[in-house]
Amino acid sequence: MAEPVEIRKIGIVGAGQMGSGIAQVCAQTGYAVSLADISEEFLEKAVTGISSRLQRLVDKERLTQDDLDTAISNIATTTDYVAFGDCDLVIEAATENEEIKKAIFEKLIPALREDATLATNTSSISITRLAAATDRPELFIGMHFMNPVPVMKLVELIKGIATDDATYNAVNDVVAKLGKTSITSEDFPAFIVNRILVPMMNEAIYVLQEGVGGVTDIDGAMKLGANQPMGPLELADFVGLDTCLAIMQVLYDGFADSKYRPCPLLVKYVEAGWLGRKSGRGFYDYTGDKPVPTR
Ligand code: 3HC
Repeated sequence: MAEPVEIRKIGIVGAGQMGSGIAQVCAQTGYAVSLADISEEFLEKAVTGISSRLQRLVDKERLTQDDLDTAISNIATTTDYVAFGDCDLVIEAATENEEIKKAIFEKLIPALREDATLATNTSSISITRLAAATDRPELFIGMHFMNPVPVMKLVELIKGIATDDATYNAVNDVVAKLGKTSITSEDFPAFIVNRILVPMMNEAIYVLQEGVGGVTDIDGAMKLGANQPMGPLELADFVGLDTCLAIMQVLYDGFADSKYRPCPLLVKYVEAGWLGRKSGRGFYDYTGDKPVPTR
C-alpha cells in the first residue's frame, strides 16, 4: 500500500471561488500549484482574481512585490490533468455534485502518481462514498476550506472509513503550513460547520418566505443581535444558493429527517437561476454599486 510522501506540489481541480482561493493560499505559502479547470477563460479569470487580491495586500504593505511575484510564479494553469503527474497532493474543488466529482476522479486518477494523496473540498458529501469511487481510499480525505479561503482560518478534515492516519497527518501538516487551523469531523452528512450553518440559512429563508421579516430585517437582526459578520441571507448569497440547496439536499437525504427539508423559496430561487452574488441576483441584487434587498 502506498504511503503519502512529503507534500511539495499541489494540484487543484476547479478554478472557481473555492479553487482559486485554495490556489492563492497554497502559492503564498510556497507550494508549487497546478490549477486545472475546463476552460482557459476560467483559469485566466482565476489568476487575475488572485493577482488583484495579492495586489491589495501589497498596497496595504502586508505583502512585498517580491512575495506577490513569487506567489504568482508558483501557479501554473492547465486544462489537462496530465500536468498533475508530479503532484504530491491533489485537491478537488469542483461543483458540489457527486456525479461531477466522481466523473472528475475517473479522468484524474490515471494521471496521478500512485502515492499521491487525493483530497476533496466537498462541503457535505460522504467522504467514504467518494473514496470508494477512487483507486486509493487509504490516501483519500476530506479537506473542507471555508469561503473566502484567504481570510477564513478553518479547514475541516474528514477521514473516510478507509483513510490512513498517515494521510490525515500529512494533510494536517499542510493545513498548518497554510497558516490555518484544522478541526476534525466524523464522516456524517455536511460534517460540522455546514450541518449547523446551512440549516440556519435555510431557516432564515423560511422566515423570509413566511413574511416574518424582510431581507433587511432578517440580516440586520442576526448581524446586530447575534454579532454575525454577515446576515444569513447575505451569507447564503455569498456561498451560492445552488451550493446551499445541494447541502440541504445532502442533509435531507442523508438523515431522512424532515427537519432538513430545503425551503421551497430557496428551491425557487435556484430554479430561476438566482444563485446569489455569482449570478448577480439572490436575496440581494448585485448589479448596481451596492447590493439592494429584493424582498
Ligand atoms: N477574498 C479574499 N479576501 C477577502 C474577501 C474575499 N472574497 N472578502 C473580504 N476579504 C478580506 C478583505 O480584503 C479584508 O482584509 P484585511 O482585513 O486584511 O484588510 C478582510 O477580508 C475584511 O474585509 P472587509 O473589511 O472588506 O469586509 P468585512 O469586514 O465585512 O469582512 C468577511 C468580510 C471576512 C467575508 C466577513 O464578512 C465574514 O467573515 N463573513 C462570513 C464568512 C463566512 O461565514 N464564511 C463561511 C461560509 S460557509 C463555508 O464557506 C462553507 C462552504 O462549504 C459553504
